[in-house]
Amino acid sequence: MARVFSGIQPTGDLHLGNYLGAVRQWAIDQDSHEALYCVVDLHAMTASYEPKELTTRTQTTATLLLASGLDPARCTLFVQSQVPAHTELAWILNCTATFGELNRMTQFKDKGQSGNSVTVGLFAYPVLMAADILAYDTDQVPVGDDQRQHLELARDIALRFNNRFGETFTVPKATVPPLGARVMDLQDPTIKMSKSNSSPQGIIGLLDAPKTIRKRIRSAVTDSDNHIEFNPDTKPGLANLLTLLAVTTEQSIEAVVSEYESSGYGSLKDATADAIIACLSPIQERYADLSSDLKYVSGQLNQGAERARSLSSPVIARVRERAGLLAP
Ligand code: TYM
Repeated sequence: MARVFSGIQPTGDLHLGNYLGAVRQWAIDQDSHEALYCVVDLHAMTASYEPKELTTRTQTTATLLLASGLDPARCTLFVQSQVPAHTELAWILNCTATFGELNRMTQFKDKGQSGNSVTVGLFAYPVLMAADILAYDTDQVPVGDDQRQHLELARDIALRFNNRFGETFTVPKATVPPLGARVMDLQDPTIKMSKSNSSPQGIIGLLDAPKTIRKRIRSAVTDSDNHIEFNPDTKPGLANLLTLLAVTTEQSIEAVVSEYESSGYGSLKDATADAIIACLSPIQERYADLSSDLKYVSGQLNQGAERARSLSSPVIARVRERAGLLAP
């Protein structure tokens, strides 16, 4: 079975983009792959943060992942900082990655504009991400569109290390869903839906109440000609709604366009809101159950971390030997 690995930052309240671009696929991959999923708390330290909040958000994110269908009996779900292999490998890979290639990362360019407060951790963020992936001989990495460049870097680092020190790493591939890989902000459909850039009105959170979801979809920015066609360049807001409806009802864009072609934007918006509410309500119900049993959640995470440590340890031993480090 091919191995998949993916990660998510512990923002606490995941949004529809996280779910449709990544987490939904993770749940599907559990049955056909050996799957590892990680709450990347160390990545969340690269921007300013409150320690107590980080703890809570890490727990909430893991709970939401379980509620979204990740099943500890079928996948390994764990928290990054509980497996030291990630930081150990990140240092070794820091000595393989170059300053120039990290400086070209668009996410760093976007986030790293605040002068002196930019940490070395933020700059080296993609190397830690490469370490996450490479520590498990990962074949495939299911992610949204915004992570493609980081995945390319992980591949380049793996290939360079292999060339320099001999075959060591499996070279991973990104798998990006055909629909939903880039869910756009509802208020500004030219930017992706994102915790850090979107206004609350531009986002749908996985735990948002049906009333909120309906309101946000109804006030989503579209255009004024009321003609339904799928064109992300000229009608980005409408294209986003059509995509959301298609993904949440498991239909093609063509099917959705032909169903609503003769209706106005109002009915399309109502149908989209209904479909999102139906898609999220089982997740919200499971979340309510699980959050009353945080002991269960942390027990599962401990078991996940133990398994992740045992899966990564032969890879780390191989890397150390190839890199000329004495056995610990
Ligand atoms: P993060 O936490 O920002 O997002 C988690 C996943 O959600 C996807 N995503 C989206 N997909 C569609 N539309 C959107 N608007 C949208 N916003 C987010 C992301 O593409 C991602 O798949 N660097 C990563 C976390 C990470 C990681 C890893 C991922 C750390 N180590 C190793 C894969 C493998 C990140 O910040 O994702």
